[in-house]
Amino acid sequence: MAAFGTVFTPEMIISRFNDNSWSTPEMVASDSIKLHPGAHVLHYSSTCFEGLKAFRHADGGVYMFRMEKNVARLQQSSKLLALPQFEAAMLSQMILDMVKRFAADVPTPPGSMYIRPTHIGTEASIGKAAAPSLESLLYVLLSPVGDYFAGGSKALRLLLEDNARCASHMGMVKSGGNYASALQPIMQARATVQADQVLFCPNGDVQETGAANFLLIDGNEIITKALDSSFLHGITRDSILTLARDRGMVVSERELTVDELLERAQKPGAEAALSGTAAVLTPVGTLIHAGKEYTVGSGGAGTTTNALRQALNDIQWGKAEDKHSWLTKVC
Ligand code: PLP
Ligand code: COI
Repeated sequence: MAAFGTVFTPEMIISRFNDNSWSTPEMVASDSIKLHPGAHVLHYSSTCFEGLKAFRHADGGVYMFRMEKNVARLQQSSKLLALPQFEAAMLSQMILDMVKRFAADVPTPPGSMYIRPTHIGTEASIGKAAAPSLESLLYVLLSPVGDYFAGGSKALRLLLEDNARCASHMGMVKSGGNYASALQPIMQARATVQADQVLFCPNGDVQETGAANFLLIDGNEIITKALDSSFLHGITRDSILTLARDRGMVVSERELTVDELLERAQKPGAEAALSGTAAVLTPVGTLIHAGKEYTVGSGGAGTTTNALRQALNDIQWGKAEDKHSWLTKVC
């Protein structure tokens, strides 16, 4: 299978904002945007994106998972980046039109169609370092995918890093600049301690990794940082917490310090996991901090992690009742 996110459908849908209005969305070749080299996004990073998935069920039907949440998050990211605003209905329709058009390319589980709505500031003005782009492009790319982590659901090694992933007021914005600021720490963690990911813990506050939220599971309790502006409000995080509540687990959304994490993670039966659209729910087996390695529980995939991942996949794949109305039928 090709690496995650490297295969695209031949067309994408796009709408342009200029003169204060959005153009009627149209299908164009996926490699066909024309951008001025002075475009705002290329200099001042006025860019945000989303990641969501469509799934094929056994009856052949194609279903979107919680699309309205991703649409709302892109609206919020756009607002925080001072990009032009758009109606949720417009983007939802663009996504549905794309998925319908390429429905035949939606893989069967465990694969899915990864959907990447993207919004960029295109005004040609290198003087606007501290002013918004008055023109933009909103487009939706599709990429049929399998597993994001090459090792499947093998337990990951995380390096706990004392620095932040990004500026503390930008964490809830899904913007390219945040990924850029996390890249060097992640590359260094791979090279020096063979970590798969970095868990960013500024001032001892356990936040998230470069592309997923972090959850600690201790017996019947699931612990994760309470929502604030410093990290991304994952839709998978919200779904997993909901499924955990459904199973009678105690969900604690609160501050989690590195000291508490390292202490609780070493208890027999403790589990840790990363949640995200691409990551789904991937077990964490090892935490590395200040030159020391800590094994989480047994060091492998935990039974609760596996059960929660299965419960989420069962809904997404149409094998369990969709009690929370998370799926929308596309075709
Ligand atoms: N945190 C970051 C930095 C991410 O890139 C992602 C992935 O989208 C997440 C968390 C998880 O968010 P979601 O579950 O909505 O995909
Ligand atoms: C997602 O899970 O959708 C992400 O955005 C992660 C990623 C950067 C591939």
